[in-house]
This record gives sequence, structure tokens and C-alpha cells, in this order.
Amino acid sequence: MGPETQGFLLNCWYVAAWDHELIDGKLLARTLLDKPVVLYRGDSGRVVALDSRCCHRGAKLSNGRREGDDIRCMYHGLKFDPSGKCIQIPGQDNIPKGLGVRSYPVHERDHLIWIWMGNPAAADPAKILDFPYLRDPAWRGKPGYMHYNANYLLIVDNLSDFAHLAFVHTRTLGGSEEYAYKSKPTAIERLEDGFRVERWHMAADAPPFHRKAVRNAGKVDRRNIARMYVPGIFFMETLFSPAGSGAGKGSLEGAKQYRNCQFFTPETKRSTHFFWDYLHDYALDDPTIALSLHDSMVEGFMEDKFIIEGQQEMLDADPDFKMHGIVADAPLAHFRRTLAKMIAAEKTPSIVEEAAHA
Ligand code: FES
Ligand SMILES: [Fe+2]
Repeated sequence: MGPETQGFLLNCWYVAAWDHELIDGKLLARTLLDKPVVLYRGDSGRVVALDSRCCHRGAKLSNGRREGDDIRCMYHGLKFDPSGKCIQIPGQDNIPKGLGVRSYPVHERDHLIWIWMGNPAAADPAKILDFPYLRDPAWRGKPGYMHYNANYLLIVDNLSDFAHLAFVHTRTLGGSEEYAYKSKPTAIERLEDGFRVERWHMAADAPPFHRKAVRNAGKVDRRNIARMYVPGIFFMETLFSPAGSGAGKGSLEGAKQYRNCQFFTPETKRSTHFFWDYLHDYALDDPTIALSLHDSMVEGFMEDKFIIEGQQEMLDADPDFKMHGIVADAPLAHFRRTLAKMIAAEKTPSIVEEAAHA
């Protein structure tokens, strides 16, 4: 972990929850970027995110009680509205001006609850990355969540090259060790907000997760197009076409496709919330396909989790350890540089701000 990415990028949207985590007015306690937050849906339907530390004596607001769109701390009863303002102190008429807890901008889209942990004035929902497949009836999936005891960037690293599919996921997502030797990224693009990797594997055996969903898949031409965005959002398009059907030249005949979104939100510096969905575009009336794919992905992600949490332990054991790069690390190195620059830029007051404070 380079020291430059020790902090978090604040002025960007992170996924805080799936909408189903807030059903029945539940108070969801979730630490995000080292901050304890309480999330809930009020009676009006709006989603609220507040600092979960009561401003009175620090009790947990997530142990409190929702009242309409408001929340009451169940220690001494202070009540807060969705803006975080204290609106009632039982037994005291006068509420000091400015008493309250911090509230965070939230935005709900396509079943995801997004949160903005930086300067609220800059929280523009237009900056949320769009993944249209989550609302498109031509695609079917099943939302997933997993918790990692590892820094989110180690998970981003893992996704930045598919060579690991061959070794970590030989019997699940990868299919064979051959994938690491025979398939090379055909294109790696270093972009301002991340990277894009395209990888083909021609006339290959379909990997197990695809074979479980599609019987008699046969030999396939397989294409993955992966796109990683700062601070840790990954979209992937996967195509399986019958081998030799001309997928390389753009033919989609007989193709079966997947769309995968993965959102990594730091919980702390060494733990991560992982939200994901894996959607398919065929046999949409068969609910067992989404379930089978979901289970296959969980199986695969558990393999990643095992490797990455072990890696985190090794890194913790020696903070002076220096990693050694190989060629396949190019996208992740670029990603870390890009993110470090953005984090540094947030810490440097702009000339305008400096002038204002002069
Ligand atoms: S600590 Fe919350 S009301 Fe006292
Ligand atoms: Fe993996």
C-alpha cells in the first residue's frame, strides 16, 4: 500500500447499501470511510444518512428509534430530523442553535443507495456512474453483498488483470490455467478515471459458471471487457459465442452475454463493503439462472477473499514490505497513481479558496 493512497477520496459517490437493506424502516448501521453512519428510509420514502454518534454523549444513533423521517437517540431521547438538526430535547425547551449531527447527501438509483462523504455542496447526482442493466428488463440478476477484511485497493488490484482467473478460479470462473498463458489482454487503456481492459480467449472450453447455467455450451469464443473507475467501481461485459461464429468480427449470433457491476466502498482502511450483481441476457423467464450465476460468483469471490485477506495479513505483518511489479500490474499501477493524484488534489486548497482565506 503506497502511502499516497492511505487516505480516501471524499468528493465522489460511494455505494452505501442496496435498497432492500432498508426495508421495513430498519436502521442500518454501517461504517463508511471510517465514519459510523446510520441509514434508514423514512415514512415519506426518503433515504436518510446521518453520523451515527449522537452529539449529546456519543451513544449510537443506529440503536435509536425511527419516528417518521426523524430519528431519536434512545439514551436521553434527543431527536434529529433528516438534516441532522436536533429538534427535541426531552425536558428542555431551548435547543441550542447548531446542535445536531452531520447528515450526508444520499441518492437512490436502480436499487443502489449512493452516499457522498465529501463537501455536500459538490454532491451532484449527475456524477453517479450509470449501470443501465440494473433497470433494463432485458437483463436479469440478483444483488449481492460481501464483507472483506482487506483494504479496498487490494480488491481493485485483483480485478485489474484476469490472469488471476486461471490460478485463483481454475474450477469456478476461470476454467483452466491455460487462460493465463494463452489469453492476453488485447487492449489496455489507461484512462483519466481508471482503465479499460479487453481480453479474448478463442475456442476455449466454457468456464464452469457458464456451463452450469447453459447446458451443452460447447467450445466458445470468450470476450471480457472490463472497466475500472475511481474510487473502486468495476463494470464488466462478458460475451460467450459459439467458437468460430465470428464474434471477433462483431457477430452476435448465438451469443450469450453477461453484465457485471462491482462496487467497493471502504469500511475502514483494512476492510471493505462489496456490492455486486451479475446479470444475464438469455432465458429471462427462468429464475434459476440468476440464482445459479449468483452462487457461482459467490464461490469465485470466496476464492478471491481467501487470497486477498491473506495478502492483507501479510502486508500488516511488515509495513516496510515492498511489492515488486510485473508487466500485468500496469493497469493497477496506473489506477493507484490516478487515485493518489485525486486524493492529493482534494487535500490541496485551490488558489481561489486560499485567496478567500487570505
Ligand atoms: S447520548 Fe444521545 S441523547 Fe444522550
Ligand atoms: Fe477473482
